[in-house]
This record gives sequence, structure tokens and C-alpha cells, in this order.
Amino acid sequence: MSGNRALVVKGLKASYGSIQAIRGVDLKVVAGSVVAVVGRNGAGKSTLLNTICGVMKSDEGSVHFGDDDLSGKSAQKVTRSGVALVPEGRRIIAPLTVRENLNLSKAARRKSDRDMETWVFELFPILKDRSKQYAGSLSGGEQQMLAIGRALMTHPELIVLDEPSMGLAPFVVDKVYESLISINNSGISVLLVEQDAILASSVADYMFLLQQGEVAAQGTPDDLNKNDFISTGYFS
Ligand SMILES: Nc1ncnc2c1ncn2[C@@H]1O[C@H](COP(=O)(O)OP(=O)(O)O)[C@@H](O)[C@H]1O
Ligand SMILES: [Mg+2]
Repeated sequence: MSGNRALVVKGLKASYGSIQAIRGVDLKVVAGSVVAVVGRNGAGKSTLLNTICGVMKSDEGSVHFGDDDLSGKSAQKVTRSGVALVPEGRRIIAPLTVRENLNLSKAARRKSDRDMETWVFELFPILKDRSKQYAGSLSGGEQQMLAIGRALMTHPELIVLDEPSMGLAPFVVDKVYESLISINNSGISVLLVEQDAILASSVADYMFLLQQGEVAAQGTPDDLNKNDFISTGYFS
């Protein structure tokens, strides 16, 4: 299930009417790595992820996952290629149970011998305990775990997360981030968006700073620290 394909994004542009939200972004996620995109509110982070994942159409540019050309492909085709999005704000379905939410992605599921539900319940035991409860009754942290679990159910090679820490208490953020490390250790690549660069740098192998729809800096967390991007509180 784990893959050896890189995600390669070139010259990606996307807009809302006359607003150019991303203006020619180049980005790479090396197979097996954790890449973080950081930047202030409105920098274009969600637009970038949504365009990569087929939720939004690009104006220009290309997205490749290994040999698969995902440019302009539908969200379902992107998922089928092995790239699963955990969207901003989780988007779980409140009146369905935890288990029903996990099974929502069935249509986009890829073939695999792995029993993913068992693994999701190992990663997040609380979801197993609550599998018959309505998703709307879960806490914010549990809903985030469910959103991650739902993405994993498609058997991705790359999981893409849009601000997974948003609105969560620090100890819950720690739990979610621990799960990301386990997911990555199992061979799944991770592309992560956060406003909090220090948090993102705690797990990232490589980082991109997005500013007004463009990559303003990139490097390892160490590189960026040396450049004072993180340590000066640039992002706060
Ligand atoms: N649905 C939308 N309609 C119009 N403009 C939007 C919409 N969504 C985002 N934008 C604009 O696009 C830019 C990038 O937004 P977004 O990608 O959501 O940034 P981020 O995720 O980094 O906060 C911002 O200027 C934002 O106002
Ligand atoms: Mg966003």
C-alpha cells in the first residue's frame, strides 16, 4: 500500500473571479516524506490543496503523482490515484454514525489487502468506542480523527491535510500530530497545511512558505530557522 511516487506540482494557478489565489506554485512531495505548506490566513493554502486534489479547477499548471497526470482531474479520480484530502473544517457528516462516515469513501476506495478499518481503530481507539455514535456528537478532536480516518479508508499513498490543528486544544493537537507520524511511518507520504509554522516544523522534512499565492521561501525546518523565518515569529 505504501508507495514510491512523488507528487510534483508545476506552475499551478487558480482564481476566484478576478482574485488570483495562487499564482504559479511549484511544489514537490518526495515519496515517503512529510511536507508542510505554511502561511498566513488568505495566503492561498486551501486553494493550493483543493486545486491539487481536484476540488477546484486550476487555470494553469500541472499536477503529477508518479506517472499519473492529475491536472484538471476530478476529486474522485485524484483519490483513486492514491491522494486523499482531509479538508479544512473536517466536513464530517453529523447525522451519520462514525462507522457510516468511515464508509462514505467506499466509492473512491482503492484495492488493497490491508484491513484499513482495523488500522484506523488502532490509530484512534476512541473512534472504535464511538463507532455507533452520531459523528455530530463527537468533540472537535474526535471529528478531526474521523476526517483523517475517512481519508485513510481510501488506502492513500499520500494524505493531504488542511489545517488539522484548527480549533483544537494543544493536547488534542499533540494526539493528531502523533497519528500523522504513525501514518507516515507506515509509508504514507504527508502534505500538510498549517498557519502555525512552529507546529508544522515539528513533523516536516521540508517546508514551503506561501505568501499571497506564491512560494516565498522553502527548505528544511533547519534551513528556514537559520533564515529566521520561524524563530522570529514571522507567522504569528
Ligand atoms: N470562495 C471564495 N471566493 C472568493 N475568494 C476566495 C474564496 N476562497 C478564498 N478566496 C480568496 O483567495 C485567497 C486565498 O484563500 P485561501 O486559499 O482560502 O487561503 P488560506 O487557506 O491560506 O487561508 C484569499 O484572498 C481569499 O480571500
Ligand atoms: Mg485555508
